Amino acid sequence: MNDTRTYRLPDQQAEGHRRNGPVGVRAYAISEEQKQLGAGRRYYLRTYGCQANVRDGETMAGMLEQMGFVRTSDQTEADVLLFNTCAIRQAAEEHVLGEIGQLRRLKEQHPDRIIALCGCMAQEPGVVENLLKKYPQVDLIFGTHNIHRFPALLQQALKGERVVEVENEQSSLVEEMPVHRTFAHKAFVHIMLGCDKFCTYCIVPYTRGRQLSRPLSYIIEEVQALQKDGVQEVTLLGQNVNAYGRDLGLQDGFTQLLEACADTGIPRIRFYSSHPRDYTVSSIEAMRDRPNIMNALHLPVQSGSDAVLKRMNRGYTAGQYRELVQGMKERIPDLALTTDLIVGFPGETDAQFQETLDLVDACSFDMAYTFAYSPRPGTPAARMTDAVPEDVKKERLNLLNQKVADHGLAHNKAWEGKIVEVLCDGPSKKNPAVYAGYSRHNKLVNFRAEKAEPGQLLAVRIDRAHSFSLDGTAVSGEIEYNE
Ligand code: SAH
Ligand code: SF4
Ligand code: F3S
Repeated sequence: MNDTRTYRLPDQQAEGHRRNGPVGVRAYAISEEQKQLGAGRRYYLRTYGCQANVRDGETMAGMLEQMGFVRTSDQTEADVLLFNTCAIRQAAEEHVLGEIGQLRRLKEQHPDRIIALCGCMAQEPGVVENLLKKYPQVDLIFGTHNIHRFPALLQQALKGERVVEVENEQSSLVEEMPVHRTFAHKAFVHIMLGCDKFCTYCIVPYTRGRQLSRPLSYIIEEVQALQKDGVQEVTLLGQNVNAYGRDLGLQDGFTQLLEACADTGIPRIRFYSSHPRDYTVSSIEAMRDRPNIMNALHLPVQSGSDAVLKRMNRGYTAGQYRELVQGMKERIPDLALTTDLIVGFPGETDAQFQETLDLVDACSFDMAYTFAYSPRPGTPAARMTDAVPEDVKKERLNLLNQKVADHGLAHNKAWEGKIVEVLCDGPSKKNPAVYAGYSRHNKLVNFRAEKAEPGQLLAVRIDRAHSFSLDGTAVSGEIEYNE
């Protein structure tokens, strides 16, 4: 099931937002005329990038459906083609540009079709100018702070105008936007926008603006509504969730938020992503003490070298990270820990890369997303001169991936023979003969069952471990879970 709906906005204005003055909250609005725009028309939407972008894509899909458009996965039959882009690495951008480049002929044959681009690339310096010059097929460009304006902008574009609207900062939070959720049984909930950390390699603070937390009451209301709707799992989203509420003047706002979400009774709560510098013991204790907050944590470390961490402006040392992890594992012994790692940051020596390998051994991550450093225009690291050659980056990435896979397998082996609780997503995309879902520890489990519905919580016995997934069989009767 997919749904399109809006969330109610409380009457009072949110207080406490201060960023060059107060940032208010207002309600999304759509005109009756805009609601007719899509009658008899189809849309194609492709989202790249992180879960925040996926959630934004769900909002835009909700808007398109509110306008009467019907979704299609076939580009050639779409009246509106929307590309929700990511700018985190150069490869992500090249992919989008390649895809849009191919649409030139389609646009020539069907000038009335709308090709639109939004998301983080639209916020990047120079990208819009380049698109306008080199990609005449693009009709509409809007930024991450202009999503609520999408129906009005599309209306203009459908009149034959070329439309660009990119704001540098979010002038106010916009609530009550529609959403077409990808899954009926699990949902993403934005708790904040933007990021204040300014890691030297990262473009996110420029493409998403400064940190802006949604007021607690709005988030809780959204989670309560989802719970009433039968949603089994929510993932609280932000670039740095454990800094939640700072801009609202809240003390330890993330713990307050976790506690309040747990109180709603929703069966599973996850959050993504967090920063080692902002961890509080109380939030770890909330995880430990509340059974509906999952014991799986994504805590990006990026590097194991103090010198590199310093040049990245991460604000901690490898030793502090290790201590943090140790403290967490003492409190939550079954914690499944995952991370992000970058290799080939400017000036990274062999010895400094070795320190990253050592840290992976010391922390023994369940899984890690690994990246070769990619210079992003406008970021401080892009101006650093001592670049690591591409072949060295590649070599380091291979070595790191092997180590990450070894640790993943060792962790997953420990689940063999155990019974875990799996939230079923439906048949596996890779092999429709089995079902796929995630355990409480966020392990991908492919399992055999006579019948399993998306959204069902099942007991699954793990038969076989791989580095990044588990194979199992659904079991019934008297069950004692091992997680
Ligand atoms: N806010 C999140 C990260 C979002 S970006 C956090 O800090 O946890 C996801 C990951 O992409 C980062 O953790 C980092 O590992 C990687 N990344 C970001 N910028 C990059 C770049 N310029 N080159 C390579 N990897 C990058
Ligand atoms: Fe980027 Fe750092 Fe912010 Fe994460 S915390 S989004 S890596 S600037
Ligand atoms: Fe990409 Fe923007 Fe997310 S750059 S990773 S889509 S915040």
